[in-house]
Amino acid sequence: MRAAQVGKLEGPDAIEVVEIDEPKAFPGGVVIDVHAAGVAFPDVLMTRGQYQMKPELPFVVGGEVAGIVRQAPEGAHVRPGDRVLALTLLGNAIAEVAVAPVDMVFRLPDNISLQAGAGILFNDLTVHFCLRNRGRLAEGETVLVHGAAGGIGTSTLRMAGALGAGRVIAVVSTEAKAEVARANGATDVVLTDGWLAAVKELTDGRGVDIVLDPVGGDRFTDSIRSLASAGRLLVVGFTAGKIPTVKVNRLLLKNVEVVGAAWGEWVMSHPGYLAEQWAEVEPLLASGKIAPPEPVLFPLEETAAAVASLDNRTAKGKVVVTLR
Ligand SMILES: NC(=O)c1ccc[n+]([C@@H]2O[C@H](COP(=O)([O-])OP(=O)(O)OC[C@H]3O[C@@H](n4cnc5c(N)ncnc54)[C@H](OP(=O)(O)O)[C@@H]3O)[C@@H](O)[C@H]2O)c1
Repeated sequence: MRAAQVGKLEGPDAIEVVEIDEPKAFPGGVVIDVHAAGVAFPDVLMTRGQYQMKPELPFVVGGEVAGIVRQAPEGAHVRPGDRVLALTLLGNAIAEVAVAPVDMVFRLPDNISLQAGAGILFNDLTVHFCLRNRGRLAEGETVLVHGAAGGIGTSTLRMAGALGAGRVIAVVSTEAKAEVARANGATDVVLTDGWLAAVKELTDGRGVDIVLDPVGGDRFTDSIRSLASAGRLLVVGFTAGKIPTVKVNRLLLKNVEVVGAAWGEWVMSHPGYLAEQWAEVEPLLASGKIAPPEPVLFPLEETAAAVASLDNRTAKGKVVVTLR
């Protein structure tokens, strides 16, 4: 089969499309003919050996797929021929055939294409975990999301309203990304430059209830400043590169929280949680209450460019590689 492989830890440009053997089904594994695979920021980090997971070289890049089941374990909830989306957490996804643990494979609602389906699980379930579990989002609250035109960002914009938010403010670096944020459902969009003052003005000085932050870096202290009383700042990632520090007097003074939100860790340490999440998110997707992603598509041969678009900050929305 053809697959996008990392042979040297030299960044996205070193990803090569190679011919390798199909993976063998492991016990409890579902074999999937992959039609499309999602790209996310951890893929960028893994091409440099900078992610917490460091697979042996060479490895196939990517962590989520959508496709058709070829083979499933006896008694599994999916059967050969089913349209599915699945997590491989992480690696072994951008390939013509993938094997995923049976509890990480779900039926794709009929109204969603395989290409959009490949862009759902990783980001949408992270955002669901962030807002529901870590952020304790209450009906009508205001959510602000940094990097709002990125994968996690657009997922937040698509989902927050359906999960109860009254308002979703997007922070983006360019006008072109502001368009992406609006198209994905932002109530308000502000540019990174001067974002704190703009948010204070939009909220009549009150601030926001939740900041979902996949970016980190220099804006972190301002994110704390942007919170309303009893607000929660969710630490999701550090695309800006720098890991911020927090002076805890700021938390005390405003009665606010800084909360870690690592979805993968939670999934691994809480068996059954993934299925619980899907049981809540699937009907919202199937009924259209959460719009499916509209990913930017790259063919398999251009996987390096697909991953590089997240690295060089040009990606607009979710990025998906197509294989069939
Ligand atoms: N905690 C968890 O469970 C979890 C799960 C999934 C992903 N993540 C993390 O979430 C973060 C976002 O992932 P993603 O897939 O949404 O990434 P993405 O699609 O590349 O979006 C990231 C956004 O970050 C902003 N950004 C600011 N500085 C940047 C820089 N120097 N380089 C690149 N982007 C920069 C960009 O928005 P602007 O240009 O508008 O600033 C970009 O749109 C990553 O750190 C990832 O590891 C965490």
